[in-house]
Amino acid sequence: MNTKRNNSENKQFREFFIDEIKDIYWAEKHLSAALKKMKKAATSPTLASSFEKHIAETDGQIERLKKVFELLGKTPQAKKCDAMEGLVSEAMSVIEDTETDSFTRDAGLIIAARKAEHYEIATYETLSYYAKLLGEKEVSRELEATLKEEKKTDSLLSCLSEEEAYRQTDMKSGKQSAKQSAKQPAEQM
Ligand SMILES: [Fe+2]
Repeated sequence: MNTKRNNSENKQFREFFIDEIKDIYWAEKHLSAALKKMKKAATSPTLASSFEKHIAETDGQIERLKKVFELLGKTPQAKKCDAMEGLVSEAMSVIEDTETDSFTRDAGLIIAARKAEHYEIATYETLSYYAKLLGEKEVSRELEATLKEEKKTDSLLSCLSEEEAYRQTDMKSGKQSAKQSAKQPAEQM
């Protein structure tokens, strides 16, 4: 950004930044509660354990945000994040609309979780740049630490969806060849 900022704009930008921290603080808390439900609803134990790992990380991220408030001289305050509310409600719809112990349930949970991760990645990445712009290097470091975790979670979920897709394809082709071989003797007769 090459635009010059005057004092009143600096103040406005700082307030905007703090508001965004309040937004992601609400978002993390809301997601933490949702992840607990998503873990319970997951079919695959691998997916359930990846949610479990991210619940612990998310709780750590909430603590990290409390530190960010402290570094900014503010008391932690949450501001409702409409985007995360929507993303979580999508995840809850997946649970309502799919059968327990189904592949579709997990597929839906993975896509819902990845959408939430991407929201967080965009937020933390941009806020860490803005923190530097405000001269808040330590705040920027804290936000970057969370950003790394979010990126890792997203790529783990991406691997899981890929692995599961391959597994399902293999199972499908396995079934087809079994059908074909069962059909052959009859066709030979
Ligand atoms: Fe998070």
